[in-house]
Amino acid sequence: MTTRHFLTLADLSTEELEQLLRRAAELRAVQHNGDIHEPLRGKVLGMIFEKSSTRTRVSFEAGMAQLGGHAIFLSPRDSQLGRGEPIEDTARVLSGMVDAVMIRTFAHENVERFASAATVPVINGLTDDHHPCQLLADLQTWQAHRGEIAGRRVAWMGDGNNMCRSWMQAAERMDFDLNIGCPDGYAPDDLSEYPRSRHCVDPLQASEGADVVVTDVWASMGMEDEQAERVRAFEPYQVNARVMQAADDRAIFMHCLPAHRGEEVTAEVIDGPQSVVWEEAENRLHAQKALLEWLIAGA
Ligand code: CP
Ligand code: NVA
Repeated sequence: MTTRHFLTLADLSTEELEQLLRRAAELRAVQHNGDIHEPLRGKVLGMIFEKSSTRTRVSFEAGMAQLGGHAIFLSPRDSQLGRGEPIEDTARVLSGMVDAVMIRTFAHENVERFASAATVPVINGLTDDHHPCQLLADLQTWQAHRGEIAGRRVAWMGDGNNMCRSWMQAAERMDFDLNIGCPDGYAPDDLSEYPRSRHCVDPLQASEGADVVVTDVWASMGMEDEQAERVRAFEPYQVNARVMQAADDRAIFMHCLPAHRGEEVTAEVIDGPQSVVWEEAENRLHAQKALLEWLIAGA
């Protein structure tokens, strides 16, 4: 049997994605009821973090513990990866010791190389090009508030980055439309491969009538030295009251976090009544538990 990986949202069929989201909602209820559910007793997740993290690390580590298993944190600073041990060798070694591996790294190719050599499931915990785990939580959050997302309109505001691309893939899988409000030069270079997504240079045109308005930092991890020029380029795309007014009256606001109030979003919006960002962050835990259960226990 071939090992299933979760490197991008496109690794799941629509049916698999819908099933995972249903399970994520069930696992949220299990957790909130205080019930014990330990299908991963004796199982271990290896976690390689080459970039910083709060939510991804804590949700995977807490999730494994709640499912009865264990997680091991590895960073390049204190593993042989940082001293040049080939990715493929690390994948072979970890495959003999743990039941799945989560990786957060820079080049997306790194997770592909790791997965090609691994014999256990590999999960992308964010690369420069994709952040599929965040989309599981985001879709779960939408469904909890508003049900089906098919036929709806999402406005992505800001950088055409890893999060934007995962939203583009979600739009294809779940049949909704994605407007990308973004200056020329920053839209994803593979946009033409995603017929459900379109680039809008006008920020108000992007958010017009949207059911969800979503944004992210203007300079992602690894782009810190572009911060000043990016602030200038993205300033018109800030999610503020004007942008939310152009959206549907019942629109919700999402952000994967961490957020910079006063840059990509105003405090008024992220701390306001349309924002679902805290629930969205918590859903990282529940959605990834559904993913772990499926990949490791095959449930
Ligand atoms: N949203 C997200 O992935 O957050 P962290 O960088 O804190 O893991
Ligand atoms: N686009 C951001 C997401 C952080 C969770 C980054 O890559 O830094």
